[in-house]
Amino acid sequence: MKALLLSGGTGSRLRPLTYTCPKQLIPVANKPVLYRALEAIGAGGIADVAVVVGEAAPAVMASVGDGSRWGLRVTYLRQDAPRGLAHAVAIAEEFLAADPFVLFLGDTLLKDGIGAAVTRFQATRPDALVVVGRAEDPGRFGVVEVKGGRVHRLEEKPRTPRSDLVLVGVYVFGPRVFDAVRAIRPSARGELEITDAIQQMADWGCTVDAHQVAGWWKDIGTPEDLLDANRLLLEDVETELRGLAEESWIAGPVRLGAGTVVRRSTVRGPAVIGEGCHIEDAHVGPFTSVGDRCTLRRVQIENSIVLEGCVLDRVAFPVVSSVLGRETVIGCGGTPSRGLGLVVGDRSRICPV
Ligand code: G1P
Repeated sequence: MKALLLSGGTGSRLRPLTYTCPKQLIPVANKPVLYRALEAIGAGGIADVAVVVGEAAPAVMASVGDGSRWGLRVTYLRQDAPRGLAHAVAIAEEFLAADPFVLFLGDTLLKDGIGAAVTRFQATRPDALVVVGRAEDPGRFGVVEVKGGRVHRLEEKPRTPRSDLVLVGVYVFGPRVFDAVRAIRPSARGELEITDAIQQMADWGCTVDAHQVAGWWKDIGTPEDLLDANRLLLEDVETELRGLAEESWIAGPVRLGAGTVVRRSTVRGPAVIGEGCHIEDAHVGPFTSVGDRCTLRRVQIENSIVLEGCVLDRVAFPVVSSVLGRETVIGCGGTPSRGLGLVVGDRSRICPV
């Protein structure tokens, strides 16, 4: 079995972060979502992966490389424009050949990975198996109707959902899917929808099974999704202190990277702090991820994601539920402050929470 991992899309709801970093490469709990997808694919027993890339191709290719870091063989397929998930399947037909494959949307996080879905597909050999979960807001997703474990009807982002079971972004397909993606027409948003291709398969009488996820799942679209995913991932962090803590209180599960120094501070877990950070006279956490080479001095921060190279120095207000892009500087350091001097990128948000 092979895997097709989609890493296209513009990430428009995550600007300004996605002006300089494709959304799949934004670290959550200090690791990009795309790396977690690659880990899940490897753990599911799959070694050959095609990554579909769009505009952000150079960044994704530079970051993932040939996949050997995960024991995978990664091939890249270029999608010229976001023409839909079914279009991505169509351009991968030659790579996938007639083998069954996993389609994995690169902005999807699954607590329990894809092993159970792959095993079930291999044991029962349907034409398609869709991984589904329950959602409070099903209208944001592809909604499925299931009878006796079989999917008979699907609808992409319906106004009035007929069920709360939705497509979480992982699918296993046999070769009939290629006929289906050729048979469908673009949707109202101008894309070839995988949801329509699966409906086409069901209409042809193909077996389309639903596999419900056991643990949590999350798709990343907005900054709030990043913070939710960060919290869910941090729930599983175990204490690992490679850095140095002096006159400090480290409470709960905390990972401190090598070369990091914490002085006169409180780090309340769950939290992860990268390598080479300086944390002084600060309160960090809970539910906070801090990337490598950050300085946090005289600041109070919780429920936040701080990417690498940030400096937060003498910040007069608590930093809460925030996502800070790489090398962001907040605060006034040692100088007495007359006010806040801002150099802020397009679409930044600085507002009370
Ligand atoms: C896509 C699919 C949708 C699925 C969702 C999961 O939507 O079209 O059926 O439920 O992923 O994240 P998108 O996020 O591309 O709008």
